[in-house]
Amino acid sequence: MKITGETKVIGIFGYPVRHSLSPLMQNAALMDLGLNYIYLPFEVRPEQLETAIKGIRALGISGVNITIPHKEKVIPFLDEVTEEASLIGSVNTIENKNGKLIGHNTDSMGYIRSLREDGGFEPRGKNILVIGAGGAARGIIAGLSMNDVSVIFIANRTVEKGKALAEEFKNKFRQINFSALPLSSLKDPEILSQVDLVVNATSMGLEEGAPDVEFSLTPPHTLVSDIIYKPAVTPFLKKAQDAGRKTLGGLGMLVYQGAISLEIWTSQKAKVEVMRNSLTPFLAPCKS
Ligand code: ATR
Repeated sequence: MKITGETKVIGIFGYPVRHSLSPLMQNAALMDLGLNYIYLPFEVRPEQLETAIKGIRALGISGVNITIPHKEKVIPFLDEVTEEASLIGSVNTIENKNGKLIGHNTDSMGYIRSLREDGGFEPRGKNILVIGAGGAARGIIAGLSMNDVSVIFIANRTVEKGKALAEEFKNKFRQINFSALPLSSLKDPEILSQVDLVVNATSMGLEEGAPDVEFSLTPPHTLVSDIIYKPAVTPFLKKAQDAGRKTLGGLGMLVYQGAISLEIWTSQKAKVEVMRNSLTPFLAPCKS
C-alpha cells in the first residue's frame, strides 16, 4: 500500500475498536480495487463522539463505519439519515458528501444480500421466526419487512419488548402479519410448522447456550440462520444441522454490510470474496 498526498481516509469509530475485523476486510477490498484509500480504526470515547463526528468534516475524511456503542447516539450529530437507518434507529455508515454527513445502515441490506446470495433464500412472501427483540433483531426485521415477507413472529425472553417491536412495525408495514411470542413457542408445533426461516438475533453467546428451538418441527426446507460469525457453526446452527436443516452463519452479513458501505464511499463494487478471504485466518477455530 502506497500512501500519498492524495490518499483518501475512511475508517471506523467504536469503543473499543481493536477487535473490529472491518479494517482488515476493507483494506483488502480497497487494495484489490486499486483505490487510493486507507481504512483506519479510531477508538472514540462516548464523550468524544460529537467532536469526532465534527472531525470528519474538519479533516475531510470520506466516510466512516460506526460500531458499538455509538450506532444510535450518533444520529443527532448528522445532517441527514436515510429512511432505512431511521426505521432501524441506528447508523453503521456515515458518508461525507461534500461536507454533508449522511447516516446509512447497511446491516439489514447486508443480511438480506447474504440470505439471497449465500442462503439461496428469497424473502418475498415467506414466514419468518426471529428470535430476539434487541438492536440486531430490529435491523433484521426492518430488512425483511422492506423485502415483502408475509409473516414475522418475534420470539423474545421479554415478551413486552417483542410486543412493542411488533406494534411499531405493524403500523409501518400493514401488509405484513407481525406477532410477538414467548420463548416457549420455540417448541410449539403450530408456529414451527409454518416457518421458512428461523433467525437467531439474540446476543446469547456460547456461555449462555443458544435459543432452544425444536427444529424437527419445522418443514424440511426451513433455513436456519445465526448472526454470530465465530464460530462459523454456532451451537444453534449445529442443532439445526443435526435435525437436517440448511444453515447460514453470520459471516456473510458482516462481509456484505462492509461491501455496501464501501460502495457508498467509493461508488465502486467491492469483491465480496476478497473481503471474505481476508478474514479466514482470523476466524479459524483457536487451537488449545
Ligand atoms: P443486540 O444489539 O446484540 O441485539 P441487545 O439490544 O442488548 O443486543 O439485545 C439482546 C437480545 O438478546 C434481546 O432480545 C435479549 O432478550 P431480552 O429482550 O429479554 O433482554 C436477548 N438475550 C440476551 N441474553 C439472553 C438470554 N440469556 N436468554 C434469552 N434471550 C437473551
